[in-house]
Amino acid sequence: MEKEEHLEELKRRVEDCRNCPLGRSRKYIVFGEGDSESQVMFVGEAPGYYEDQIGKPFVGQAGKLLDNLLAEIGLSRQSVYIANILKCRPPGNRDPLPEEINACKPHLMKQIDIIQPSIICSLGRFALISLYKGLPSSGREKFSSGGRDGKSISITAAHGKLIQTEKYNIFPLYHPAAALHQPTLLQSIKEDFAKLKELLSKPMPEIRPDLKTKIKPPEKTDTEEQMKLF
Ligand code: URA
Repeated sequence: MEKEEHLEELKRRVEDCRNCPLGRSRKYIVFGEGDSESQVMFVGEAPGYYEDQIGKPFVGQAGKLLDNLLAEIGLSRQSVYIANILKCRPPGNRDPLPEEINACKPHLMKQIDIIQPSIICSLGRFALISLYKGLPSSGREKFSSGGRDGKSISITAAHGKLIQTEKYNIFPLYHPAAALHQPTLLQSIKEDFAKLKELLSKPMPEIRPDLKTKIKPPEKTDTEEQMKLF
């Protein structure tokens, strides 16, 4: 099967998903979209009101900024793949709950396994924390926020720096919605996109296929503890 067919099959599974209560309150799932052959995948947080209404990621103000940032480095949303940690909208656009992230994560991991991007750009701290769980402990200290368990990661420390693991190349970015409200973050995200352009002009370390994520049922995570540290 081609990537698109695998993604369609996964999308149908997500449409039937009731792993958490958001599966009942959503209007549409926001599965993700873009070029499944792209080397670059962006992972945001969760659908908001407008995304929920039409089932597409990043269609509001944050999405417009994302489009502009992509355009500035010669990319378009059609040339990359864009998804979210959560496929369903949390009511009132509240932050994702740890149990929702946990319930939805197998869908994202499967999506990543299908697309096999060379680089995953996490948008905001929730996406970073969620993907960070895949990091070996040796990669963590550099970005640690010094949390009690020593396993936490700070977006302030990590943004704009490539995190290379055996499994993924993660490039943490601030969330465009945060950048909309804070001029200093807007400047940082612009600089980080310029770094991304530079990174994409060089060969990326390959992701080893034997380390592809296995799809597992939702499990207990320590995400809640990590969230408290931001
Ligand atoms: N829209 C999305 O699809 N994801 C976000 O994280 C924010 C807005």
